[in-house]
Amino acid sequence: MHLAEGNLHGAELLQAQAHVWNHILNFINSMSLKCAVELGIPDLIHNHGKPMTLSELVDVLPIHPSKAPFVYRLMRILVHSGFFAQQIVSGNTEGEGYVLTNASQFLVKDNPLSVAPFLLAMLDPILTQPWHHVSAWFQNDVPTPFDTAHERSFWEYASHEPKLNHFFNEAMASDARIVSSVMINECKGVFEGLNSLVDVGGGTGTLAKAIAKEFQHLDCTVFDLPHVVADLEGSENLKYLGGDMFEAIPQADAILLKWILHDWNDEECVKILRQCKEAIKGRGGGKVIIIDMVVENNKVEAGSTETQFFFDMLMMILVTGKERNRNEWSKLFSDAGFSSFKINPVLGLRSLIEVYP
Ligand SMILES: C[S@@+](CC[C@H](N)C(=O)[O-])C[C@H]1O[C@@H](n2cnc3c(N)ncnc32)[C@H](O)[C@@H]1O
Repeated sequence: MHLAEGNLHGAELLQAQAHVWNHILNFINSMSLKCAVELGIPDLIHNHGKPMTLSELVDVLPIHPSKAPFVYRLMRILVHSGFFAQQIVSGNTEGEGYVLTNASQFLVKDNPLSVAPFLLAMLDPILTQPWHHVSAWFQNDVPTPFDTAHERSFWEYASHEPKLNHFFNEAMASDARIVSSVMINECKGVFEGLNSLVDVGGGTGTLAKAIAKEFQHLDCTVFDLPHVVADLEGSENLKYLGGDMFEAIPQADAILLKWILHDWNDEECVKILRQCKEAIKGRGGGKVIIIDMVVENNKVEAGSTETQFFFDMLMMILVTGKERNRNEWSKLFSDAGFSSFKINPVLGLRSLIEVYP
């Protein structure tokens, strides 16, 4: 095959170059967004209560005066990527002011469903550095690019570095708030007939707290690594327990695994699932409830497939996990000794999967 120099001409050649440029510079979308969140731009526009002109924004931004002339350039790319919009401001000589879009409402820190903690965690240098080591990882025998960059696994690093432990737990809690709000309203039936539930790898307990509050007869346990649950206080029907899910999981009618299995490879998942099966042994109606993605699922829109593949890459780079398609899930369940499962695509890019012994 001849290379592009020979067979691409004029507009086609320039279009191919533009495509490559766009992908080379794609990180600028993420980094511009990170800058806006760090400077509190979504919060300032939200608090302003009406379209905010550039000079009004510049006046309140916590920046050095010499940087004022650069703000419109940051805002221009964020308008282009759909995070802010411009609206006419009546009676103002500047004409237009910035407003939030649906997407940037979720970047306001006061919004209980804010995804700002997830953004700040994923774009922290501890988590972005491994991306510079992916090709080296392909050529070495180290488990992940994270280990290649930091010389220890993600979980070891989090257990020794309070900063990572803290921002990661905050990121997970922010996601759990969104999932709780949908689950409690739309998936009530999943909890019917249960008297006890263990949220394995439940982090600091955001989802379990919401479930315990809604279903007060349900005994809930948040089970996570000791450094994650240390010093956390439960309530009447919620308790925290430190441990290792590869060794043993407390007995209950249902085991909840939200965003757990995608962190681990198939062999590790089968070990976790076998422990789950032990934990629900002898309980009539016992089950495992999984919240994770099902990829290559044609019910997901085309734009969302790319996001699912981003998550799959994220799992390969940071930990030993992956996002799975229906057949891969099915194989995991049968390898761990479960007899049937049901996939409910009710959580956006993720599904709720019920697995029965
Ligand atoms: C991706 S986070 C998910 C947290 C929470 N389920 C959520 O979705 O908000 C994975 C969780 O698994 C926990 N974890 C990792 N290894 C574990 C182990 N061996 N035993 C118990 N929990 C573990 C981590 O501490 C972390 O809280």
